[in-house]
Amino acid sequence: MDAAHWDERYAKAELEWGPEPNHFLVQEIDGMEPGRALDLAAGEGRNAVWLAAEGWNVTAVDFSRVAIDKARLLAERRGVEVEWMVADLRDFEAPRQEFDLVIMFYLHLTAPERRKVLGQAIETLRPEGTLLVVGHDRANLTDGVGGPSDPALLLDAEEVASELVGLVIDRAERVVRPVKGSDRDALDTLVRARKP
Ligand SMILES: C[S@@+](CC[C@H](N)C(=O)[O-])C[C@H]1O[C@@H](n2cnc3c(N)ncnc32)[C@H](O)[C@@H]1O
Repeated sequence: MDAAHWDERYAKAELEWGPEPNHFLVQEIDGMEPGRALDLAAGEGRNAVWLAAEGWNVTAVDFSRVAIDKARLLAERRGVEVEWMVADLRDFEAPRQEFDLVIMFYLHLTAPERRKVLGQAIETLRPEGTLLVVGHDRANLTDGVGGPSDPALLLDAEEVASELVGLVIDRAERVVRPVKGSDRDALDTLVRARKP
């Protein structure tokens, strides 16, 4: 989907993904010392705003202007500051060794595009920095619920881990996410890696 389609999807007043952070973010960040964080494909800002409230200095990027406007409002309501950027991640050049944490949640691109974005994420991590990637797993098509229906856009933990050249992989797994109102759980890919 291009930015215009996402703008349309975000056009309603309610938050498409709600105001609360993703459960896996809260779980994986637990105990980490706050520093500078970059949220790639931040959407309406639920994760960026939570990180900022936890003491992180957050930069958040998404190519949907409507999403970023809603994210700004959420940050205002929560009384936190986030640096918001409207940009297409496929052309995004991140500064070198700038961030202690980079997160990429539910961004579904083609494999070459994803590798390019992950390459930028690796570049912009500081030594000892953490990269956290979460997205709809390919197994979702047969055994889960939600997410894109094109298998080429879905994630696989081993595949993502193999793309994180130079990082140490702490976790690369398929994880289960209960979905309200669905008799099936969603299956997500979760990869957490560290720059040596
Ligand atoms: C499923 S939403 C997830 C939003 C957020 N990460 C979250 O978990 O709440 C996917 C987001 O990716 C953004 N996106 C998709 N392709 C993008 C691109 N090429 N550059 C920047 N943002 C993109 C969309 O605008 C959308 O906000």
